[in-house]
Amino acid sequence: MKDTFGRNIDYLRISVTDRCNYRCVYCMPEEGVEKRPHSEILSLEEIEEIAAAAVSLGVRKLRVTGGEPLVRRGVADLCRRLGALEGVADLSLTTNGALLPDMAQELKAAGVNRINVSLDTLRPDRFAAITRCGRLDDCLAGIQAALKCGMSPVKINTVLIGGFNDDEIQDLAELTVRDPVDVRFIELMPMGHPVPFGPEAYLPVTAVRERLGDELEPAGADGGVAKLYRLKGAKGRIGLITPLSCEFCGCCNRLRLTADGHLKPCLHSAEEIPVRGLHGAALRQAILAAAAAKPASHGELSAACPSHSAREMGRIGG
Ligand code: 5AD
Ligand code: SF4
Repeated sequence: MKDTFGRNIDYLRISVTDRCNYRCVYCMPEEGVEKRPHSEILSLEEIEEIAAAAVSLGVRKLRVTGGEPLVRRGVADLCRRLGALEGVADLSLTTNGALLPDMAQELKAAGVNRINVSLDTLRPDRFAAITRCGRLDDCLAGIQAALKCGMSPVKINTVLIGGFNDDEIQDLAELTVRDPVDVRFIELMPMGHPVPFGPEAYLPVTAVRERLGDELEPAGADGGVAKLYRLKGAKGRIGLITPLSCEFCGCCNRLRLTADGHLKPCLHSAEEIPVRGLHGAALRQAILAAAAAKPASHGELSAACPSHSAREMGRIGG
């Protein structure tokens, strides 16, 4: 599936729920998000049908996201069915890790070979503050559970927030020394709702390179959006992801399916294409329309010019 700029659209991110057991301050407003009744959310069968149609059009990579995907009942079974679709070369999942200690094994058996775990800080008090209710130890145990059952690579997503966790760059980077994990620093994206940080929070991830300096050696690209480095002798790598600079819009290969059945051509645009209730040729047509609607880039993204997305991140899935 090609878009109008010749980009090959072969990656679908599937948000299976907009609910989450955390309330990260950059992802959701303080009061939380309005709970959608279950009837507004795609059934697992509907998700499978939409994914199958996308795969028939050339999608090869699927990623299951949320909210927090592991709070959706039946998610492992869905993963098994998605992984079994003819043509799917890669199935992955993004999670906050809290439920991984109990679920990693089951997910691995269902065909989830790669996993991304969100972790912004190694200080228990900061972890509780940024997630508004999470426990650091649960997340760390989740990462170990993923490693133990043989998922590879295990990637850690760290949102870099100036004045909050930039003093932990070294500590977070050193996670790659002990374990074969990739730690990816992501620039904080302004998503529209107020966050309890000043403008200094929007720190370019080049700060990581400056902070780690000589200790870092280039380690190529990962075929995705991260530029990779390695601390000398480390088992894992360090990735830098720079959404604010739109550097990687030129090779954007993805569509996003929301839990309530809309395709988003771009993370930061308000445009959405409803696909719920469509089948067969009409469904494929809508997916092609979503690919065709992809903009060249998301345009300016800064504290002064936040995302045009009509949704919070928790209702898109990152
Ligand atoms: N900016 C950057 N990353 C974000 N995430 C959620 N909200 C934001 C934001 N405003 C990240 C989460 C998770 C992934 C799904 O998206 O930390 O790793
Ligand atoms: Fe939940 Fe992830 Fe949003 Fe945090 S960032 S509230 S863990 S969906």
